[in-house]
Amino acid sequence: MSKQSQINHVAIIMDGNGRWAKQRLRPRVWGHIRGASVVADIVEQADDLGVQSLTLYAFSTENWSRPDGEVRLLFKLLRKFLEKEYDRIIENNIRFRVIGDTSGLPRTTLRTIENLSNKTVQNSGLKLNFAFGYGGRQEILDAANSWIKENPGKELTLEQLESGLYAPECEDVDLLIRTGGDKRISNFLLWQAAYAELFFTDVKWPDFTVGHFKEIVSRVQRRERRFGSVEVDADVNFDQVVAQAKKQKKEFNEVVSE
Ligand code: FPP
Repeated sequence: MSKQSQINHVAIIMDGNGRWAKQRLRPRVWGHIRGASVVADIVEQADDLGVQSLTLYAFSTENWSRPDGEVRLLFKLLRKFLEKEYDRIIENNIRFRVIGDTSGLPRTTLRTIENLSNKTVQNSGLKLNFAFGYGGRQEILDAANSWIKENPGKELTLEQLESGLYAPECEDVDLLIRTGGDKRISNFLLWQAAYAELFFTDVKWPDFTVGHFKEIVSRVQRRERRFGSVEVDADVNFDQVVAQAKKQKKEFNEVVSE
């Protein structure tokens, strides 16, 4: 029977919205609107597949430099998503949170985020994180700084730093998907994705379907993950292997020196 890797945490960089719209001679924001309509189906599918955590990159710290209208539209899409999915998230036992610096968001959206996060904090189903105003380096820096503040002069361990990340209850990322054809991590979950399987697809986010998602998860489940280790071969006697190698080296040297 083939071995399957457990995919607990999936992270997605939802890229290609602008190019998708441009190909259709529409403004870039059209791509975001279509892209936003894909999100709910992927969340539902992740839940159905038994994924424990899903983190979606909705707005990076770098995205602040986009035109004002585009930034405002992305805020609006977040608000609309929350309004539409609010009850379903609660009913489906999903734990929702936003990770990143949300201070630039309108107050009403912040209130909705806070309400939904509080209402779902005890939920035991899918952990759904929206990365908004998010940067991976900033997250690590924030975790380190909050530790230093509480423990001046003390050294920080890996576990202590992890406990200061924005969603410490989430496992490491097992699978990082990027749509849109580029092959970059773009400052997303730098700490958590240290051993993630990376999957890059040319499909642009607005065209990304539940079928694509299922196919990627199942392909990656079949990949072998070694986490820097090696497969242990129970039958190998290392002394024998070394002796054989020495013998072969002797034979090799004899041949080349002839
Ligand atoms: C990258 O596409 C995508 C984003 C910057 C935002 C992703 C946001 C959504 C999918 C919609 C938000 C949805 C919710 C529910 C909050 P790009 O504009 O960089 O595309 P390009 O690389 O083709 O230019």
